[in-house]
Amino acid sequence: MSHESQQDQRATRRGVLLGVGIAGIGGVLAGCSTAAVPYDADEAGMAPGQQASAASSAPAMAGQPAAQGSAAQDSGAAMGTLLAQVTDIPVGGGKVFPSQKVVVTQPAKGEFKAFSAVCTHVGCVCNQVANGTINCPCHGSEFKITNGAVVTGPAPTPLPARTIAISGNKIYLA
Ligand code: FES
Repeated sequence: MSHESQQDQRATRRGVLLGVGIAGIGGVLAGCSTAAVPYDADEAGMAPGQQASAASSAPAMAGQPAAQGSAAQDSGAAMGTLLAQVTDIPVGGGKVFPSQKVVVTQPAKGEFKAFSAVCTHVGCVCNQVANGTINCPCHGSEFKITNGAVVTGPAPTPLPARTIAISGNKIYLA
């Protein structure tokens, strides 16, 4: 095999590998099509049967910042992933964190909630919080900032709760 043909072969192999990588990304980005895999509760780290208990535990954790202040949990690493400052979340609104696929809301001053931002319709990531709802850009579903309940379909079920912890003025995703 000549030197040139070896180089061609390597270039072709790189092209194939790059093509596979792009195809993989395309598959992920196709989350809005009806062919996409519907929302999987595993993504939120819980089985479907566990959603109710997780939903009820998150607000309690988020609403008790003083309880998070133990010496063992004051280091950021123990608290989880740093998401934002408390002041980043508007009262009566919220903020979407697309990288973590989570939305944090503050329905009332000092009361923080967190939900998966993955729409329960066919898996788009909600991208906006406005007028008391968390909104999905794909087909118009809207969810309450207070509990993730569906206000407007076609989403069939609420946004699952995510667990956050607050330490000082910082919000961590557990
Ligand atoms: Fe269809 Fe969100 S994916 S409304």
